[in-house]
Amino acid sequence: MRKVRKAVIPAAGLGTRFLPATKALAKEMLPIVDKPTIQFIVEEARKSGIEDIVIVDGKSKRSIEDHFDSNPELEANLAAKHKDEMLRQVQETTGMNLYFIRQPYPRGLGDAVLTAKAFIGDEPFVVMLGDDMTSSEVPLTKQLIDRYEETGASTLAVMRVPHEETAKYGVINPSEETEPGLYNVTNFVEKPEPADAPSDLAIIGRYLFTPEIFEALENTPVGLGNELQLTDAIDNLNKNQRVFAHEYKGKRYDVGNKFGWIQTNIEYGLKHPETKDPLRQYIKDLGQKLAKEDEKPSKSK
Ligand code: UTP
Repeated sequence: MRKVRKAVIPAAGLGTRFLPATKALAKEMLPIVDKPTIQFIVEEARKSGIEDIVIVDGKSKRSIEDHFDSNPELEANLAAKHKDEMLRQVQETTGMNLYFIRQPYPRGLGDAVLTAKAFIGDEPFVVMLGDDMTSSEVPLTKQLIDRYEETGASTLAVMRVPHEETAKYGVINPSEETEPGLYNVTNFVEKPEPADAPSDLAIIGRYLFTPEIFEALENTPVGLGNELQLTDAIDNLNKNQRVFAHEYKGKRYDVGNKFGWIQTNIEYGLKHPETKDPLRQYIKDLGQKLAKEDEKPSKSK
């Protein structure tokens, strides 16, 4: 069995939910406190044993390439001012064995993955989305690699979501739980309304694929939203070879929408050494203020 060494990080979407911030800046560069989300994803890949990472970028994505490049002027300035910790942080993101591919048009997540075909070749690989940040003792990507080493099959990360939220996700129709937390899947449905959802197990942003996914993508017609849907290609792949779903039970942060991104910033802000104390105090004060405001209308009656 070939080792899983490569990761694809698609980052060529338009990020319309964050406009105007994403007019000239990649959504994946929006910070969580002081670190771009894509850096958390790259760190998860590294901790999982991934050696080579390809980032699929599009228009206005220069910021990602620059972030992972050296910046001699800034580094010299920080060194001259003896800002050693800042210098360490700036240099930490260089030399990470990253490669970049352009997706000429944002034709969907499936199309973004397909652009990485030549880079991946005939190897199993993982796909990691910048929208989902995860936190668990064993990184989620490593959990998928461990499953692959047992089964040799493509495996997707899924998580239980509130039933009313199924229309935001690709959802699996599980047939049997072959071992705790590992499901055989009958079919995959992209963004079903709750009434049509075959389960509450939603695909989250980590996938491990055998290279046959590329053939499945090439044979999948354009789907929902006129985009090449990765979920549709997975459903096709599943007709020819087993695709498993691995249930993730750790913490997940949905940073692809405004509210999720704000929540994630608050949670990380409560852990960050520079912000945790003042932020805790601020939240307490704000809670009291809001509680008073909520009391006012009933008093005035
Ligand atoms: P999303 O649908 O969440 O990203 O795709 P988006 O389209 O940028 O966001 P909104 O809905 O307009 O706000 C999930 C991931 O797939 C990438 C995105 O960059 C994101 O990381 N993607 C999506 C591509 O790389 N190419 C595409 O054509 C579409």
